[in-house]
Parts: sequence; structure tokens; C-alpha cells
Amino acid sequence: MCEHTHDPFPRAACAVRVLSSLEIAPGVFSLVAGRSPVSSTATGGASSVPAPAAGQFFMLRARPSGVLLGRPISVYRSDDSSITFLILKKGRGTAELCALRAGDELDLVGPIGNIFPLPSNAAADANQPHRGEIRVALVGGGIGVAPVSGFSFLLAEGSFDFYASFRSAPYGLEGIDARAKKLVVTTEDGSAGVKGMLPAVFDAAAYDFVYACGPTPMLRYVKGAIEEAVAAGSPVRGFLSLEEHMACGAGACLGCTVRTINGNRRCCVDGPVFDASEVIL
Ligand SMILES: Cc1cc2nc3c(=O)[nH]c(=O)nc-3n(C[C@H](O)[C@H](O)[C@H](O)COP(=O)(O)OP(=O)(O)OC[C@H]3O[C@@H](n4cnc5c(N)ncnc54)[C@H](O)[C@@H]3O)c2cc1C
Ligand code: FES
Repeated sequence: MCEHTHDPFPRAACAVRVLSSLEIAPGVFSLVAGRSPVSSTATGGASSVPAPAAGQFFMLRARPSGVLLGRPISVYRSDDSSITFLILKKGRGTAELCALRAGDELDLVGPIGNIFPLPSNAAADANQPHRGEIRVALVGGGIGVAPVSGFSFLLAEGSFDFYASFRSAPYGLEGIDARAKKLVVTTEDGSAGVKGMLPAVFDAAAYDFVYACGPTPMLRYVKGAIEEAVAAGSPVRGFLSLEEHMACGAGACLGCTVRTINGNRRCCVDGPVFDASEVIL
């Protein structure tokens, strides 16, 4: 059983079992975790980890672990019985997660955070009713491809273009080729797709909505490209999912503060998705 919170997005804090783990690119692991809590962590409450929404994340920690706090990891895919994460081995916390194997346990807190607004909802919110097609671009950089790839499954087939930029071997694009109107991959070393980086292939003015997640320099570029397009008369709007450093993941430590034109916000509970026109990068 899991301990649950009572916020609008119910959150679990419990241990779950690893169902599988596979290295899908050098240093990048696809880890599938069960949604049924292991009995040793029974604390009362619901019997399953709440279903996450695309764009949300969990704080994950291997069991046992040498690190004190969980690490924020986005949902890549989820179904009734499992949640899949893509994890890039970086420091100690993610190295422990990447070393987990089927049958091992991990501590999980979540799902946490807000979500990408659907294009139709974002258009209605902005009082921008679209009579024709809404032109949507999804942009993922490196491990930031995970949440946008998950989000793409909420969109109608053929209703979005997908841009994915990597240093080298691409990953996290299962099912995208068949569903996107256009999939454009860039790699810095030219090992797949177009050799180069996102600016070589991306035109913000061609879209009504841009959804992006990736390293801060890439998000800064996307924000700038949107601002330039808007200045030239384009209606384009952007939503950026930030990968801020985090500690508590619960809104308490202010370790994930993000500057916006409306003041400081906490990435963990006010984000991770922010309107590109509001966030200061
Ligand atoms: C909302 C969100 C979603 C994320 N989704 C993914 C994902 O799907 N897959 C993935 O591989 N990585 C993801 N990250 C990045 C991942 O959380 C960091 O790489 C990880 O925390 C690094 O921890 P570490 O112990 O391995 O490295 P260390 O560098 O040793 O970490 C030390 C401390 O810094 C924090 N930290 C370091 N780098 C980051 C970072 N980029 N973002 C946040 N905290 C950091 C850690 O939480 C830890 O407290 C996400 C980050 C955020 C904020
Ligand atoms: S990580 Fe502590 S307030 Fe966000």
C-alpha cells in the first residue's frame, strides 16, 4: 500500500518493484517500475501508485541507496500496471537507479508537478480559437525527449511535428515516427539524422504551439526563437519543461527556484512546465 496526499494530483510515497531495465543508448537506461507498492512499505492508503499525467515526474531513489534524496525523473510512458522512465546516468543518484535490475526495489514519490496543456485547451485559454489546423511542434533535447515523447501520445496522430536533438545516438522515440507528421532528428556528431543542433532545422514561426524539454541552453534558444517569431507577427506560444536542480521535490526547500516575470516560482510544484513568455532563463 502507498501513502497518498490529498492535492488535486494525488501523490504516492512508497517502494515499488523494478520490472525491467535495459540500456537503450550508452549511459541511458529504460527502467520499467510496477505501480503496485511492495508489501514491506505498506503505510495505508491506496493500493496503487496514482496514474501520472504526461509532463509529470517522480522523485526516485534506489533501495538501498547512498543518497539522501530522490532524483526527479519524468514519466516516459505509463499504463495500468507500470511506469517507464528513461534515466541518463549522471551522478551518484542516477547511477544507482541505472544499476537496478528486475526484482530490485526503488523508492518513489509522485506523480509531481503540472502538465503540458493540450493545444486545444491552450488555444481556448488564450482566447485564440483556431478555425483550421493547430500547428504543433514538440521539441526534446537529450534526456528531455522523455516527457515530450510521452505527451505526444495525448495528441492525435499526424497532428504534430517532433524535433529531437542529441549529441550522438538517438533514443526515446519509439512510436513517434509512425505518429508524428514529421520527425526531425539532429545529432552533433552526425551519427543519425541531420548533423548539427536544433537551430539548423527549427522555425518557431511555422507553429501555433511549441512544447519543449531539454538542457537550459536549448530551452533558452527555443524561448528566443519564439520571441523573435512573435515580434514578427506570429501567434506562436511556447511551453517549456525545465530541468532545475531539486532537493525536496515538495515545495519546501526553495532549492528549485525559477525566475519568472511574475516573481520567483518553485519548479517542483509550480512547474516543471512554464509559459515561455513568462519564464526568465
Ligand atoms: C522535472 C525534472 C525531470 C527530469 N527528468 C529526467 C528524466 O526523465 N531522466 C533523467 O535522466 N534525468 C531527468 N532529470 C534530471 C535528473 O533529475 C538529474 O540528472 C539527477 O537529479 C542528477 O542526480 P545525480 O545524483 O545522478 O547527479 P548529481 O549531479 O550528483 O546530483 C547532485 C544533486 O543535484 C541535483 N541535480 C543535478 N543535476 C540535476 C538536473 N539536471 N536536474 C535536476 N536536479 C539535478 C540532484 O537532484 C542532486 O540533488 C529531470 C530533472 C527535473 C528537474
Ligand atoms: S525542490 Fe524543494 S522546493 Fe522544489
